[in-house]
Amino acid sequence: GKPRVWISRPTFPEVVARLEPYFDVAAEPEEVVFPPAELAARLSACEAAIVGLKERIGAAEVAHAPRLRIVANLAVGYDNLDIPALTAAGILASNTADVLNESVADYTWALMLGAARRMGEAERWLRAGHWHSTEFRTWLGMDTRGRTLGILGMGRIGQAIARRALGFGMPVIYHNRSRLPAEVEQACAARYVDKDGLLAAADFLVLAVPLTAESRHAIGAAELARMKPTAVLVNIARGGVVDDAALAAALAEGRLAAAALDVFEGEPQVHPALLARENALLSPHIASATWDTRRAMTAMAVDNVLALFGHGPHAGRPPSPINPEVLAARPAP
Ligand code: GLV
Ligand code: GLV
Repeated sequence: GKPRVWISRPTFPEVVARLEPYFDVAAEPEEVVFPPAELAARLSACEAAIVGLKERIGAAEVAHAPRLRIVANLAVGYDNLDIPALTAAGILASNTADVLNESVADYTWALMLGAARRMGEAERWLRAGHWHSTEFRTWLGMDTRGRTLGILGMGRIGQAIARRALGFGMPVIYHNRSRLPAEVEQACAARYVDKDGLLAAADFLVLAVPLTAESRHAIGAAELARMKPTAVLVNIARGGVVDDAALAAALAEGRLAAAALDVFEGEPQVHPALLARENALLSPHIASATWDTRRAMTAMAVDNVLALFGHGPHAGRPPSPINPEVLAARPAP
């Protein structure tokens, strides 16, 4: 019979239509967080899996999945996947690189401006019926013009965020594990600084690093203490890059002006101390959530699956492999 593809979360109807000629498609009708045993059972019954960040796939899941050939992650980040374990088992992993850069960059600016201009707070105030008591000086926020944008993690999303700064009149500094080539720095008008320099100088600090062992709590109590008390911290990267408890304390004690967060440690839980902060603008991990981009992300996951099995526009050449060495080591199915 046909190989089976499991899709862990509801996507778009065209996804099933593209896969059905070649696969037996098992698409989950609802958003569910699968307990480990249920996740293992589903992975054990398929050749291909299209999954989201809530599916955490490690050595134990892989051990139960002898038929599995590809895990296509519906995200650019893949800290939910144990890549060495997948690679050791000859399973290809793919992500949705690049198709979401511009949407995520737009949303990052929405968060920056929303925090600077206190949009969440102001909307709650209006809805609570307090408009009549608004004074000339009630809603004073921060301008962007002339303020310094700092970016930690200058991959393609960081660069897309930086390019938008020209229109706001903001100088850009960045820190990254490796310095970018001069022509890329010029294209984003961004200046490289060390991490301490970034923390000390940024008026807006945007986090755009993947979550790894090295980046876990890259912003904790010590780093927050180096930032300006007037600064705004924006996290569109991953929960865990920031120590959320330390951040909530800094916000509560006036050691940081505001934060705008799309990602949290322990999602979908949000630290109660952050929920209690008026100066925290919070959203449920939606930076890539536009119609065009979420469609492009799902199309890319499908392209990777089809390609591995020799079908579709990229037959034989999955477009965004994370561990391409698997392709060289093992013949295509
Ligand atoms: C994508 O952002 C996901 O939540 O899987
Ligand atoms: C979402 O968080 C992604 O990594 O695409």
